[in-house]
Amino acid sequence: MLSKSDKILAWYDQNRRHLPWRSPPGVRANPYHVWLSEIMLQQTTVVTVKPYFEYFLSIWPNIKVLAIAPLDDVLHAWQGLGYYARARNLHKCANFIASEYNGLFPEDEKNLLELPGIGPYTAAAITAIAFGKKATPVDGNIERVVARLFAVTEPIPKSKIKLHELACAMTPDERAGDYAQALMDIGATICMPKKPVCSLCPLSGECKAEVKGNAGNLPNRVPKKKKPTRVGTIFWLSNDKGEILLRRRPEKGLLGGMVELPSSDWQENSLTQKKTFFDAPEKIIWKILPGRVRHTFTHFHLELEIATGQCIKPELIKGIWSNASDFGNYALPTVMKKVVAHALKYKD
Ligand code: ADE
Repeated sequence: MLSKSDKILAWYDQNRRHLPWRSPPGVRANPYHVWLSEIMLQQTTVVTVKPYFEYFLSIWPNIKVLAIAPLDDVLHAWQGLGYYARARNLHKCANFIASEYNGLFPEDEKNLLELPGIGPYTAAAITAIAFGKKATPVDGNIERVVARLFAVTEPIPKSKIKLHELACAMTPDERAGDYAQALMDIGATICMPKKPVCSLCPLSGECKAEVKGNAGNLPNRVPKKKKPTRVGTIFWLSNDKGEILLRRRPEKGLLGGMVELPSSDWQENSLTQKKTFFDAPEKIIWKILPGRVRHTFTHFHLELEIATGQCIKPELIKGIWSNASDFGNYALPTVMKKVVAHALKYKD
């Protein structure tokens, strides 16, 4: 009788998706391609990632050239993929591999885990896909497939360890990379979150959730806490050349090291004039524009009002002065792009 992994691999041989980072059947994938794609694919869809992956390869065809690229160029090319910490870690990791490993990825899962931006999932994915060694990457999609296969009703995150163990127990000794990618493809094209197409699944008939008729409801999840809303004021300060003040965020933390318009703290309580304008880059009369800019981060919603003003003492101001038409030279995060669009629309 064929094992689950035999069936999954046989399905993959007929149905694999052709993705730009994948090698042809039987050929070992390029570790740089695997790593780059896996970092990009964290919290981002395959459709979004494809053009970015191809663009990155066209500019930085290998890890040594990526390592010597200016960080700002990398952040700039990353614009639109979000979660910029990933891009910073990508660059850091490229530097580390170039300097410590002469540009060659370590082949061992444990060594991979020590690299910047590489967690257990990515280390396992690279080990399996790039080096063909047995390893079991488990992301949300694979958790879903496994939860259904074994009808695990205990909710995520409590069941995470169990799902990981079940996934590991199914992993074959051979072709671990193809097997991992097969599960990814099954998760993306058949065992989809809302409407799984069980009739197309190579494990149809032996999936416990399918048999019980509740595949589409699994995995269960502990309900997420409601996201809080924070508010803040953006300061759109112009100098007499019509340039606008920008500043760089601290390296650590949300949107670390990215360029933004100056802003008050983002607080959970409502905006209080006194506190807000204490954070302003200059003590001048500020004019509040109509409307607010809304953006949602992983852990909170943000509402920003925009205050505009004319700088009186530019010599006292620290930051970057730039024409709004040149903002494209900086890797502005999406929230700031929304702010710029709003400000340009409403300022006089
Ligand atoms: N999602 C994460 N890694 C992937 C891969 N290698 N192929 C397809 N989807 C993925």
